[in-house]
Amino acid sequence: LSNGLAMTPPMGWDSWNMFGEQINETLVRQTMDAMEKFGLRNAGFVYINLDDGWQHYRANRTDKPLEADPVKFPSGIKALAEYAHSRGFKLGLYGAPGQTTCSGFTGSEGKEKEDAALYASWGVDHLKYDSCCSHMFATKAQVQKVILDMSTALMNQTHPIVYHACHCGWQDVWEWAAVEGANHWRIGQDISDDFNYPGLRDGYYYDVLDMIDRGNNITKYSGPGHWNDYDMLIVNLNGKSTQLVGTGASNTEYRTHFSLWCMVASPLLIGSDVRYMDNYTVETLTNKEMIAINQDPLGNAAVKVADAYNGTLQSYAKNISDGSIAVALINRGTETVIMGTMPLIKDWNLSWPTYRLRDLWQHKDFGTLNSTYWVEVMSHETKVYQMWQVK
Ligand code: GLA
Repeated sequence: LSNGLAMTPPMGWDSWNMFGEQINETLVRQTMDAMEKFGLRNAGFVYINLDDGWQHYRANRTDKPLEADPVKFPSGIKALAEYAHSRGFKLGLYGAPGQTTCSGFTGSEGKEKEDAALYASWGVDHLKYDSCCSHMFATKAQVQKVILDMSTALMNQTHPIVYHACHCGWQDVWEWAAVEGANHWRIGQDISDDFNYPGLRDGYYYDVLDMIDRGNNITKYSGPGHWNDYDMLIVNLNGKSTQLVGTGASNTEYRTHFSLWCMVASPLLIGSDVRYMDNYTVETLTNKEMIAINQDPLGNAAVKVADAYNGTLQSYAKNISDGSIAVALINRGTETVIMGTMPLIKDWNLSWPTYRLRDLWQHKDFGTLNSTYWVEVMSHETKVYQMWQVK
């Protein structure tokens, strides 16, 4: 969306996957405390997004303005947004284009202008606007209309609001939404808390690898201000989501998931309970070098550049604004393997006789190399390197 916002992928937290409707202002404040304490806020995770369930009424749209649930949010959204701002965060809300949201709370239908003005008056900084993949918005014209009605309403406010049009990738939203549509859009339906669970490949739920495969053909539509959104991060859910199917993934798999979302420049919205995290998880989510790959101002999304052994071993690469390239080597198989950087360089059509290599998970520089760098990659592990040409 050409509103000058989200020039790098939005980063923050979203309440849905862990808590569903069970949200309240105490939880939100504790989440901010935890995000500050664990260094997430300073690493860039600033959006605190209340998903569905913040609202008072579970009813069709009437002329009444939207209201927060007075039991869950007794101080109101404006006070919460002010509090978030005072702590260096931003506040996001959730709405829907129909009569009701996906969980049956009041939607915006016909009242987009009023609702956008209300959100702005509360100081809300991000809106997730979700058609729930509803049959009501099944044609391209219908999807376009509901996305544009709200984007126009938001653009008419003086307070800047990042706009997430959550429409499950329907009607190839990426092909037309970049300029007038939205700042990010989901590329599919909900992710599951699984790395690679074949039983889930039923066309509705996706696991981490499904999402990456799904996004691979549409990376070119993503860029500053308009991002392909691979869905919220499942890191740290550990099978405890109240909403998602799936039994959780290993720490190595969650790190691969984070690496890939950084490589493809997806928004990074943590979907777990950040009050409880082990050190490995904190290290995963606060890796500044990986976040820099996600937040690179060029805004490129990595593409798959090599695929071996029936897709078991893959590499993804993208150009970085300082002239380097970021390279991820992923082992999707069940055995530890040796993978090399050089085949990738060949595929990427680079003629770099010598290059400098840095491991972005080990935070280690390997100096200048003039041949391939071979490395052992565990099952489901991803190595991420940055490579600079040495002239
Ligand atoms: C849809 C979205 C989820 C969440 C719920 C809320 O399922 O895909 O991310 O926002 O609606 O009801």
